[in-house]
Amino acid sequence: MTRVLLLGGTTEASRMARALADAGLAAVFSYAGRTEAPVAQPLPMRVGGFGGVPGLVAYLRDAQISHVIDATHPFAAQMSRNAVAACAEAQVPLVALQRPEWKAEPGDRWTHVPDMAGAVAALPGAPARVFLAIGKLHLAEFAARPQHHYLLRLVDPPGDLPLPDCSVEIARGPFDLAGDLALLRRERITHVVAKNAGGSGAQAKLAAARTLSLPVVMIDRPALPARAVRAEVAEVLHWLAQAAAHQADRGV
Ligand SMILES: NC(=O)c1ccc[n+]([C@@H]2O[C@H](COP(=O)([O-])OP(=O)(O)OC[C@H]3O[C@@H](n4cnc5c(N)ncnc54)[C@H](OP(=O)(O)O)[C@@H]3O)[C@@H](O)[C@H]2O)c1
Repeated sequence: MTRVLLLGGTTEASRMARALADAGLAAVFSYAGRTEAPVAQPLPMRVGGFGGVPGLVAYLRDAQISHVIDATHPFAAQMSRNAVAACAEAQVPLVALQRPEWKAEPGDRWTHVPDMAGAVAALPGAPARVFLAIGKLHLAEFAARPQHHYLLRLVDPPGDLPLPDCSVEIARGPFDLAGDLALLRRERITHVVAKNAGGSGAQAKLAAARTLSLPVVMIDRPALPARAVRAEVAEVLHWLAQAAAHQADRGV
């Protein structure tokens, strides 16, 4: 019987959850538990890490999971690597629902960097006003450049921040061009640092930077092991139907 584990934490995962619920498929939605009030889902939910690859293998077996859909953020690399390893070990088919990367358009002033350290190094020496659109996990690395003012946009109010000079905008996407243009203008932003998340929910800041001709430090996606990847919810449903039929043929 089909019983899906959906690894979530993204807009795409919420769309996938809706499609699974509408299709009447048995599924569990998994959150890491990073935000205080995660978006409610139309599926049974579980919250918190599994305990690495061994924990995930045990969970797949205990919960009798037949298929895993990894709809985590493209930068949630540890979870995605664990899912590849655990699914291989437990022999559970895995597919990733992943949005295509953003590509620079005419008028964009992007500098590509491979990781967070590259983004820190790419900032100018002279004091600047930087929109640090990277979430909350890696802020401390930017303490190496304390001369800049940093604008942070976070889902939850932060506790102590590791940066000496920053302002905080509490907001949850999706964001739009008018709002992001107003934000960049109001905060007199001179540089944007972004992760290449792809998708539409967080793209407005790039269009706003283009409109204002601001430089963007674009952090490229981490490399992940080979796995089946689909860009659309409908394609994942199709993959699921095919994988379930294949398992039925093998008498699994
Ligand atoms: N990284 C980002 O930029 C970003 C942006 C937006 C949303 N998110 C979402 O935030 C969550 C955490 O991201 P991250 O970058 O911290 O992940 P990560 O570094 O890849 O994962 C670290 C650990 O968190 C646990 N974990 C992550 N996602 C989980 C999930 N959906 N269900 C259960 N456990 C999960 C796993 O713990 P165990 O090893 O104990 O299983 C994993 O090893 C993900 O769900 C992701 O989709 C991340």
